[in-house]
Amino acid sequence: MTTIIKNGTIVTASDTYLGDIYIEDGIIKEIGVQLKKDCEIVIDAKGKYVIPGGVDVHTHLNLDVGIAVANDDFYTGTVAAACGGTTCVVDHMGFGPKGCNLHHQVGVYHGYAEGKAVIDYSFHGVIQHVNDNVLDEMNEIVNEEGIPSFKIYLTYDYKVSDEGALKVLLQLKKLGGMTTVHPENHDAVNYFRNLFVKQGKTSPIYHALSRPAECEVEAISRMINLAALADNAPLYIVHLSNELGLKYIKIAQDRGQEVYAETCPQYLLLDEEKYNEPNNQGLKYIMSPPLRKKYNQDFLWKGIKDGNIQVIATDHCPFAFNKDKQMGKDDFTKCPNGVPGIEERIPLMFSEGVMKGRISINRFVDVCCTTPAKIFGVYPKKGAIQVGADADIVLIDPNKEVTLTKDILHANVDYTAYEGIKLKGYPVLTMSRGKVIVKDNVFIGEKGYGKFIKRQKNMYKNNFI
Ligand code: URP
Ligand code: ZN
Ligand code: ZN
Repeated sequence: MTTIIKNGTIVTASDTYLGDIYIEDGIIKEIGVQLKKDCEIVIDAKGKYVIPGGVDVHTHLNLDVGIAVANDDFYTGTVAAACGGTTCVVDHMGFGPKGCNLHHQVGVYHGYAEGKAVIDYSFHGVIQHVNDNVLDEMNEIVNEEGIPSFKIYLTYDYKVSDEGALKVLLQLKKLGGMTTVHPENHDAVNYFRNLFVKQGKTSPIYHALSRPAECEVEAISRMINLAALADNAPLYIVHLSNELGLKYIKIAQDRGQEVYAETCPQYLLLDEEKYNEPNNQGLKYIMSPPLRKKYNQDFLWKGIKDGNIQVIATDHCPFAFNKDKQMGKDDFTKCPNGVPGIEERIPLMFSEGVMKGRISINRFVDVCCTTPAKIFGVYPKKGAIQVGADADIVLIDPNKEVTLTKDILHANVDYTAYEGIKLKGYPVLTMSRGKVIVKDNVFIGEKGYGKFIKRQKNMYKNNFI
């Protein structure tokens, strides 16, 4: 199969230029100006930006949190991703049965994704307890299964101790893998949760007040220092929500530590006032860490611009407002945590970031596509427009005006956290390995087309230090 994308404005993490892209059997074979090719498919991209498909390295498809299961599986979730201009996801595995080994969840997640995903995918491993067997097993997961990153949680049921975190950091440093962390101080959060419940303070705003920024920042700084103690192990902070945490990350980076930071659209665009919306609408935004005070947003945008934040992901974790989230209607502690966003990320970052002049279009491509692909080892197959890369390509029409509303989105959930936001610019075509799978917001791909990617180790490192 041969395809040519003609006359588009090609945007990479470093360049913007007019050109044509010639694709053969799903791979980019040539890039040039006015290429003369006789192709089966010709796509006119005049007036459109042509970017690498988005790479979302923080999703929770099929996530089972005990009281509820996230509503998107690997079919509905990846359809939504594709419609929003994302062509690769790296999903965070949920916890398995108590005491299970690492291979257990790898097997479960292959079962979830195979035959369902419509775009290519991988997983992050999850550590739910630390012992010698788990540490040994990591070697196989990294080197044989092609899963070189793991997440540890410093809160929730399977939180790891500081000693456990140190051991994971040391082992992954040795293996060339990446430790990713959900940083919140469990005991402090628990103290405030219990206090508020005892005082009858159970409305959604108390979710935010029970997990103040200092709870997150304390855990970030602790992990940064443990990473330094672990022979300067690489560390990736997920879903950074606030200014103070960014300051600590910057200090570590300035000291030469290999610390990466990810933030998400919700922390850039929404703030804690959302928890006060009438009729318990605030339940929609119950996520951890919670939305913060508005002033934090400018600092996070600056962190992206300055390079201290390397990745924008979604933490897509969709629970239905009218069902799952209602468990928290009388008590925020009973509400499943998480917010959808897999489809909204690229449109929001393009419109709110690029079109509003907060970040350049190249930085947008960098943080949404290229750098996540490098850090998590799917580059240059993904996250790049260059010869030899997979033809995972998205066309954005900068003149298309869209009002975000649940009805135009594809995730299997009954709300968007961004209802009513007016966007300038929207993805109009998504291609995965040379095949057009979304055209004008209509999914035309195939269930099960997506393939598991055995990932390489971090390729970003050299840019960083
Ligand atoms: O509230 C959130 N973020 N839920 C998803 C799981 C996690 O902590 O990343
Ligand atoms: Zn988390
Ligand atoms: Zn998450």
